[in-house]
This record gives sequence, C-alpha cells and structure tokens, in this order.
Amino acid sequence: MKALVAFYSHEGQNTVDFAVTQIKKGHTRMVAEKIAELTGSDILRIVPKEEYPFDYEACCARAKAEYEASARPEISIPLETLDAYDTIFIGFPIWYRSYPRVIATFVERFDFTGKKVLPFCTNEEGGFGMADLELSAAVKSKGGNVELGLSVRGKNAENCTDAVVRWLRMNRI
Ligand SMILES: Cc1cc2nc3c(=O)[nH]c(=O)nc-3n(C[C@H](O)[C@H](O)[C@H](O)COP(=O)(O)O)c2cc1C
Repeated sequence: MKALVAFYSHEGQNTVDFAVTQIKKGHTRMVAEKIAELTGSDILRIVPKEEYPFDYEACCARAKAEYEASARPEISIPLETLDAYDTIFIGFPIWYRSYPRVIATFVERFDFTGKKVLPFCTNEEGGFGMADLELSAAVKSKGGNVELGLSVRGKNAENCTDAVVRWLRMNRI
C-alpha cells in the first residue's frame, strides 16, 4: 500500500466542549499525524490560498457563507496527480454538519479512479453528520471508492491511537 494522508485543519481559535479556546494544534492535524505515523504514509495539509480567519466567529462566518454558496475556495497543494498512491486518507473538521469547502475543491481537483478513500473527521458532537455521504458521492463521481470512516471528538484527538488502530484494522490496513 502506498498511501497519502491529505487533511485540512483550522489552526487558530476553535471550540472544545463548546467553549472557544486557543488550541495548541489542530484536532484533525493530530489525527492525521497519528494515521501517517502508524501507516508510514505521506502527509499533506490542504492549504487554503486564503487561510480561514484565526478568530472563531470570523471563521464561522466565512465557513457558513462558503457552505451556503457551494463555494470552491482555491487551495495550494504540491501535487499534480494522485498517481503515486493507491489509498488516500482525507481528513477534516466537521463544519456545519459537513466538510469545509476546501475539501470539495481538493476532491474535484483529482482523478480518484481505482483509489481507496478513507475519510476521517474531528467534531464536537454528531460524528460525520452529512459529510461521509457527501464525500462518498463526490469521490464516486471522480472514480474512487469511499470505505469506512473514522470520527473522533476534538477533545479526544490527542489520545486517538487506540481508535485509529482499531479503525485501520477494520479496514484491513
Ligand atoms: C466553522 C465551524 C463550524 C463547526 N461546525 C460543527 C458542526 O456542525 N458539528 C460539530 O460537531 N462541530 C462543529 N465544529 C467544531 C469542529 O468540528 C471541531 O472543533 C473540530 O475538532 C476542529 O478540528 P480542527 O482543529 O482540525 O479544525 C465547527 C467548528 C467551526 C470552526
């Protein structure tokens, strides 16, 4: 298996137990790094051309507007194709019960024909919400196949090793 862990994580103010907090490191980044460490995968942050605001409320305002407009914000990613990989882990925080629109930009950018896609997310509550269904449809339309995902509560991201190991096993990785 040659795998890529591609993720977006908001680096700034976020919520932990519904309180706005300055977190040390993005929750999704913590899970992404654990997956990469355990599987020996390459890892890549999906970088918005214009980073989302540090401030929580300002970030929410932009995220909501983009979601409602089905926006496809520009991203910087140092890859032309996914040809080097057979398995792609795609990670994101849940925003408004879905994924940040930069993830939509990422999926639409690449050909996923024959690729196995494993989604993972972090959130406050409610798991994937609509995100796994939406991602399945988006990846399928680009030729890939989405398998069982992993949802981690943000406050548990720092101690996600057991959950990640179990999930990899379930996916026979
Ligand atoms: C704009 C925005 C919208 C959010 N919407 C949801 C939501 O609908 N459901 C949820 O459980 N958490 C929601 N959250 C909380 C994040 O999903 C959660 O804090 C996540 O762990 C953040 O990951 P990150 O540090 O990698 O960005 C939202 C956070 C932000 C900033």
